[in-house]
Amino acid sequence: MLLTGKVVLITGAARGIGRASALVLAGEGADVGVVDILPEVEETAAAVEKRGRRSAVAVFDVADPVQVREGVEKIRGALGPIDVLVNNAGIVNNVAPIARMSHGAWERELAVNLSGAFNLIQEVIGPMAARKWGRIINVSSVAAVGGLHNQVGYAASKAGLLGLTKTVTLEYARDGITCNAILPGLIGTELVAAMPAEIRESAVASTPARRLGEVEEVAHLIAFLASERAGFINGAEIPIDGGMRLNVSSLGSRREVRETWRLE
Ligand SMILES: NC(=O)c1ccc[n+]([C@@H]2O[C@H](COP(=O)([O-])OP(=O)(O)OC[C@H]3O[C@@H](n4cnc5c(N)ncnc54)[C@H](O)[C@@H]3O)[C@@H](O)[C@H]2O)c1
Repeated sequence: MLLTGKVVLITGAARGIGRASALVLAGEGADVGVVDILPEVEETAAAVEKRGRRSAVAVFDVADPVQVREGVEKIRGALGPIDVLVNNAGIVNNVAPIARMSHGAWERELAVNLSGAFNLIQEVIGPMAARKWGRIINVSSVAAVGGLHNQVGYAASKAGLLGLTKTVTLEYARDGITCNAILPGLIGTELVAAMPAEIRESAVASTPARRLGEVEEVAHLIAFLASERAGFINGAEIPIDGGMRLNVSSLGSRREVRETWRLE
């Protein structure tokens, strides 16, 4: 097993990629602290415990540094020092062209997707450095490198995560800490299943693999990056997208697609 004896904290663990990661990492021997803004995250903790590992729950908003401090303390109190942080919580639903995207939507997307990761890293990095071991995995997106029509807040927040990732590496690699970003393409979560079929089909058509990714495929990449074996991978941007990034600039660019997908 890759993660025997490690304590992991995963944000956004109530569903989707975060929930799958909690279960896969537990299967690799980790105890898993699960965080979400939704109380349904309790169910993920129960599923981790069913796999014979310890779990702890904290319900908070990653965008609020005070709640983050209290929540991380709660998980640490229950499970012990945090070895691995997975910054997965994210919002993906502010969809509008830049001229019509509200400042509130832009700011909330940056607060959750980018400042959320900053807030969590601030709480765990000092103790990781003191123990000379740590793994941080930031869940970015192919949108960070290609941009995404009608999702400027999302794309900018995910691109910001890349700068955050690399700077943490520069500052802490000598302390035994790795910090890497993964860049998923379209993954078959409930949210993606609920997208208008035309958008989903257009995205699959732009993916050389001609399919959606599976949450478990992303979770296994996270498990490897969290492990001892990945100790020399640092400051990396790792796509997991079936080749989609090679075509990403065409995503959502067709007029009929632009007109279909708007949440204004
Ligand atoms: N699904 C995809 O195709 C895809 C592609 C690229 C990147 N990603 C990224 O992967 C991550 C997970 O995506 P997913 O598809 O599983 O999404 P999801 O919406 O199913 O899960 C995200 C989780 O984060 C939680 N969350 C949202 N805001 C929060 C906050 N302020 N504080 C705490 N928790 C919060 C949600 O409640 C939810 O449980 C996100 O960062 C997303 O941007 C997903």
